[in-house]
Amino acid sequence: MEIQWDEKLSLGIEPLDDDHRQLLAIVNDMLKIDPPNDIKAPTLKVLERLHEYAASHFQREEALLERHGYPELPQHRQIHADLIRQLQKIQTDLQNAIKITMTVPLVMETHKLLRNWLFGHIAQEDHKYAAFLKGRA
Ligand SMILES: [Fe+2]
Repeated sequence: MEIQWDEKLSLGIEPLDDDHRQLLAIVNDMLKIDPPNDIKAPTLKVLERLHEYAASHFQREEALLERHGYPELPQHRQIHADLIRQLQKIQTDLQNAIKITMTVPLVMETHKLLRNWLFGHIAQEDHKYAAFLKGRA
């Protein structure tokens, strides 16, 4: 089911909100891929796009936080690195999955990871720096 953009996700920092909207669009492309159709190839394709986009987005976000001297940047960087690692692991596992019984749970796990990412990382962790940046404005 498609996820709608909502105010919980909005940071009030336009360039990063734009990035997050773009991430949400990619996640929605992922959520549209549903069994019993062929799910492995399309999921891998979207995962590749997501990986690329997330890596460049994290760089933009971290550069901004660095410019503003965000004190929790090391932890935030760590969380980004973990997300990229999880994505990489899912990509490898899915590439290696040869049976549909292996593919379906991996795709479900991917969907769960992405929902947590949006509503855990963006809605919570990213809001911590947004509050910090606004406090300094
Ligand atoms: Fe972040």
